[in-house]
Amino acid sequence: MANLPSGNRDSFSSKFGVIAAAAGSAVGLGNIWRFPLVTTQNGGGAFLMLYIGFIILIGIPVMLSEFTIGRRAQLNAFGSFKKLAPKSPWYLVGSLGIITAFAILSFYSTVAGWTLEYLVQAVSGKLLHTDDMVSNFAGFSSSSARPVIWQLVIMVITGLVVYGGIKKGIEKFTKILMPVLVILIALVVVRSVTLPGAGEGIRYLFIPDWSAVNFKTVLMALGQAAFSLSIGMGTLITYGSYIQKDNHLLKTASQVAFTDTFIAILASLMVIPAIFAFSVGSVDQMSPGPGLVFEVLPNVFKAMPGGVVFAVIFFFLLCVAALTSTISVLEVVVAYLKEELKLSRGKATLIASVSISVLGVLATLSFGVLSNFLIFGKTIFGLLDFASANIMLTFGALLIVIFVGWKLGKINFLDELSNQGQLKSSLYKVVFFIIRYIAPVAIGIIAVAALFIKGI
Ligand code: PFF
Repeated sequence: MANLPSGNRDSFSSKFGVIAAAAGSAVGLGNIWRFPLVTTQNGGGAFLMLYIGFIILIGIPVMLSEFTIGRRAQLNAFGSFKKLAPKSPWYLVGSLGIITAFAILSFYSTVAGWTLEYLVQAVSGKLLHTDDMVSNFAGFSSSSARPVIWQLVIMVITGLVVYGGIKKGIEKFTKILMPVLVILIALVVVRSVTLPGAGEGIRYLFIPDWSAVNFKTVLMALGQAAFSLSIGMGTLITYGSYIQKDNHLLKTASQVAFTDTFIAILASLMVIPAIFAFSVGSVDQMSPGPGLVFEVLPNVFKAMPGGVVFAVIFFFLLCVAALTSTISVLEVVVAYLKEELKLSRGKATLIASVSISVLGVLATLSFGVLSNFLIFGKTIFGLLDFASANIMLTFGALLIVIFVGWKLGKINFLDELSNQGQLKSSLYKVVFFIIRYIAPVAIGIIAVAALFIKGI
């Protein structure tokens, strides 16, 4: 960026800045839109338990692996592998990350665009005067113009923040918005759990029914954990490369994972009790789809005193959560183009945003004119969503832990984690053991088996 000393990479300026940016990437539509959706589709409480297990056992070690790779190499996701493992095909893991970033941002920006439409509908008062929220959502999402326009607005805002760079764009933006987000979520949770009939939803969420667990549940829990923590595609390698050398990486990773999980649980407490309070009373009967949050919550707002205010707050927070994540995904591609193809930040941002938007528009239209265009039985949106979270991120996470555990090795890992011997913790070796043995076996079994299971 403009006024940096020459030869220096732009970096985060403070510890809080790192947490805000990384937690900003992690906390997003994955927590508020996707988590309640997959939780209700996969058995509620039992899914939640599995999910938390994966966050601790796999999520934090993969996150640390990514931070380590990025901070050690001081490069983008692709360049980091090239530098740390020269003359070997490991850079392909970086390439997979760049492709995954494309896939994720294209469908993610569709949903982020929906949040803007709903924010406008909430502010104008139209939303709370709607009788049938399901057809309101169906009508909007299947139309051709508005969802595409909103998606492009999201891509433009994302591009502008990323163009601002690390300190003056990403860090500044997330440092202000993340605390706002937490306060707003807390406000809506209080309202949702005090609705009449909400108790049933709270029980559904916290009392595990293990009979609902099957292989698909396990895969979805792992995929959701990876998606939610933003691991498995190099986002945190890229952000790791902007973390200063005296940062305590284990502490940072644990704080980010804790914040993300806490907000996913809060988000479920916002959405699931409301489903029980306002719908047929059983999630099995309502087969929730991508519109869950857009169909159920507006009914809650409609029925509550001061609902307009809560509706505006909710869709604003959803939009903020989405934007602090979209910028992290775009930065993966921008850092790659900038450092590997030696483009200016401006050019790299423009090329990345425009090309992702092209795929994104197809994802958006798959709710309308392209709804009959199916690949492997899924719409473009459905395929991008499923394949990126459950297949690409899972394989990405697998390859990243294998890289750190078996190629980068213990000495380098411990050196980076301890800030070249300045920090001491007996946990470092435990984490390395997990990275070398436990995480690859656990992710490997799930990822490989997923390829052979029919009907997923
Ligand atoms: N973690 C984000 C969320 O939960 O919404 C989504 C995401 C961002 C996934 C960045 C992957 C990524 F690299």
